[in-house]
Amino acid sequence: MIFWFWIGCFSLIFTCVRSEERNFRVIIDQVNITNVDRDVYENVECKVHQINNRTYIDSSHMFKHKVEDLRVHAAMDFWKLNSKQKMKLYDVELDGCYILENANKNRLFNMYVKSLKKHSTVKFKCPFQANVNYEVKNMTMNEEDFPSFVPLGKFRSLIEYIINQKMRARFIASGKIIPYSTDPLKVLT
Ligand SMILES: *[C@@H]1O[C@H](CO)[C@@H](O)[C@H](O)[C@H]1NC(C)=O
Ligand SMILES: *[C@@H]1O[C@H](CO)[C@@H](O)[C@H](O)[C@H]1NC(C)=O
Ligand SMILES: *[C@@H]1O[C@H](CO)[C@@H](O)[C@H](O)[C@H]1NC(C)=O
Repeated sequence: MIFWFWIGCFSLIFTCVRSEERNFRVIIDQVNITNVDRDVYENVECKVHQINNRTYIDSSHMFKHKVEDLRVHAAMDFWKLNSKQKMKLYDVELDGCYILENANKNRLFNMYVKSLKKHSTVKFKCPFQANVNYEVKNMTMNEEDFPSFVPLGKFRSLIEYIINQKMRARFIASGKIIPYSTDPLKVLT
């Protein structure tokens, strides 16, 4: 459920503009999972791989018991290219169950829901059942769903899953926004 990371990304989108191909790519270099509560999780995994400068995400979640209450703490820090100054893009706590149910009514979460539907094997909604593999394979992002201007730089994203009022797993992802030439003859700096 690195998806919450995307939700974070979407909170960056203040204006949705449809336009030409984007000249940047969003790369996730690494995802670490820590503080996993084994009383709650049977299994939790998240892997990223890069093909042609694009990040693909595989993840799986399996719970030991039915999960009816899921909250998400999401925060993101960003460093603009060549800057040491950290910017806090957001630090929020959200009702995960509500967002999964209502995302399609919300422009901000629509891409996330679309992508999730396309890449998951089972439907993600509360309550999450015990011993069901909530799996996502080969999920990627479409730059066209981002604003046309996104500054280059690197980011660090924190996602914590809070189930029954306790933090049960922490995901930390690091990545970068890189220039991407849509014209192979043009060199971007
Ligand atoms: C990926 O990026 C590297 C430089 O970062 C570039 O040399 C290479 O051509 C890119 N590959 C593709 C498929 O765009
Ligand atoms: C993931 O998607 C990419 C691009 O669509 C494709 O090249 C790759 O084979 C896919 N990998 C798997 C495991 O489906
Ligand atoms: C993930 O863990 C490795 C090994 O502990 C560490 O070197 C790396 O910086 C971590 N990455 C992130 C994004 O926290």
